[in-house]
Amino acid sequence: CGIVGYIGNGNTINILLDSLECLEYRGYDSAGIALVSNDSLRVIKSHGRILNLKDKVPITLNATAGIGHTRWATHGKPSDYNAHPHKDCTGNFAVVHNGIIENYQSLKDGLIAQGHKFSSETDTEVIAHLLEKNYAGSVVQALLDTVRELEGSYAIAIVSNHAPGKVFAAKKDSPIVIGLGDGQYFLASDVTAFLKYTKKAIFMEDGDIVIMSGEGIEVIDFNGRPVRREARIIDWELEEAEKSGYENYMLKEIHEQPKSLRDAIAGRLNELTGEVVMPELTLTKADIDDIKRIVIVACGTSYHAGLIGKYAIESMTDIPVSVEIGSEFRYSANRLGHETLVIALSQSGETADTIAAVKGSIKKGARVLAITNVVGSTVSREANYSIYMRCGPEIGVAATKTFTSQIVIMYMVALYLGTMKGMLGAEQNIRMVAELKALPNKVQRLLENERYIMGLASLFRNAGQFFFVGRNLNYPIALEGALKLKEISYIISEGYAAGELKHGPLALITTNIPVIAIATQCATYHKMVSNIKEIKARDASVIAIASESDGLIDQLVDFVVRIPDSNEYIAPILSTIVLQLFAYYIAVFRGCPVDKPRNLAKSVTVE
Ligand code: G6P
Repeated sequence: CGIVGYIGNGNTINILLDSLECLEYRGYDSAGIALVSNDSLRVIKSHGRILNLKDKVPITLNATAGIGHTRWATHGKPSDYNAHPHKDCTGNFAVVHNGIIENYQSLKDGLIAQGHKFSSETDTEVIAHLLEKNYAGSVVQALLDTVRELEGSYAIAIVSNHAPGKVFAAKKDSPIVIGLGDGQYFLASDVTAFLKYTKKAIFMEDGDIVIMSGEGIEVIDFNGRPVRREARIIDWELEEAEKSGYENYMLKEIHEQPKSLRDAIAGRLNELTGEVVMPELTLTKADIDDIKRIVIVACGTSYHAGLIGKYAIESMTDIPVSVEIGSEFRYSANRLGHETLVIALSQSGETADTIAAVKGSIKKGARVLAITNVVGSTVSREANYSIYMRCGPEIGVAATKTFTSQIVIMYMVALYLGTMKGMLGAEQNIRMVAELKALPNKVQRLLENERYIMGLASLFRNAGQFFFVGRNLNYPIALEGALKLKEISYIISEGYAAGELKHGPLALITTNIPVIAIATQCATYHKMVSNIKEIKARDASVIAIASESDGLIDQLVDFVVRIPDSNEYIAPILSTIVLQLFAYYIAVFRGCPVDKPRNLAKSVTVE
């Protein structure tokens, strides 16, 4: 999502709408603005793109301050009533929010018990009601009391009838930048929103509250104490800024993974009990006991996440799982019935073959669980149950952050099913939950090793073909590594289960073909080592991806990329990120248009 705010001597409405348009790449399923003047607080919002919102705003309207939002839904489908800004019952506060309030359900239950009436399904609306509850004459004090009750990540902007000449903001784990203009002040999720008006900005830090008025800005911390923040001059051009300074969207999205993974698990894992908390997964124990078979249906990168899902679900439950490519499944003689759970994996939720598979499955009486990144997408609407990935829009055609979130969600589903079936002990769950929670920081650490991966890519940029091999959970990662490379660098690359090499591909291995071997610690590690020896015996160059603590691998291969030590489920996610960066830099060195590879589309809505 993107948020904006404005106060000053310019045309508030035009500036807000204009700024929102600059942020549309952060989300575009609904939009809204709240305008405050001496005698009123007015909210206008609309389903769909900002153009729809523009049509709804009366030209005669005037305001000195306002806030705005362009949404990428995480709680509640895209609609007029779920669009931001959200108001409290009295209509005195309007709030826009980017992030996830993890404890919103318990806050909402408490507020409802106190008589508050909610008009949306969003987590954001609780903030407006909390402000109303906490208001006793000072908006700043109400905000300080409110942030104390919130858990999760948030960038919040507020306008209120109680302080018509001001815009308030609070930040924790979601970005807000303040723009300092001449007699006018801006607020936004990123600088693109106001770059046209000013290049002077203050980046808010976690735990900051900002109060903007016509006279200037004041920053305090969550305890109300004044804080000093230095202004910076932004020297990015507009297009650069949309990519937060990255060369292109793919690199930006690779780097967003610590955040997208954190968001995927936010509020969904209980560290103390090891339980998965997914209210959207309304399968009861009886429903789960009825499931005799699971079929995962997906296309492209999502299909590879499906293969990982199969390993996880089969390890954590006693349910047999098959994984099918959407375009094959829809025309196959599959025998589906009520005892089958179909899991449709699709980041866009709009892939034609996956939609057809979902519709066909429902017709045959199967139940369908959708896992998508787009709230209200066709796959999620058609399905009986829906889980959202909360990645924010992915613009690069090659899927990156959505893939790693799909894997994490598959793990959470496997944990949920295994726990409901009584097949997992609390201790095992707690360990897995701790590993999942530690993942975002490990990804961050891995990304700091980017230059080494870039160096390898430079060394191998002229290779004509590549092999990627792995076993067990690393096999789908080998497939995904090969797909990434062929998609964006146009190099012929093949992914193989390492144990299959001897059944054919070994005939192709020569000195000229580099092989990437995913050899992280897991049950099949020693088998993998034997496969690497088979490859080295044919004089190929081998790049291994291995765990930090592996003391053996250096002697066997030509190059090693180390990933932080993790369990066998988490390591494949870290290896994926290495392969994303490797494919990315090879493509860049070869001068390929990484965000828009030839002949490919982000969402394939035709058969
Ligand atoms: C296209 C994209 C791929 C994606 C596939 C499936 O081919 O280029 O990156 O993996 O569609 O998309 P979905 O939205 O269903 O996950």
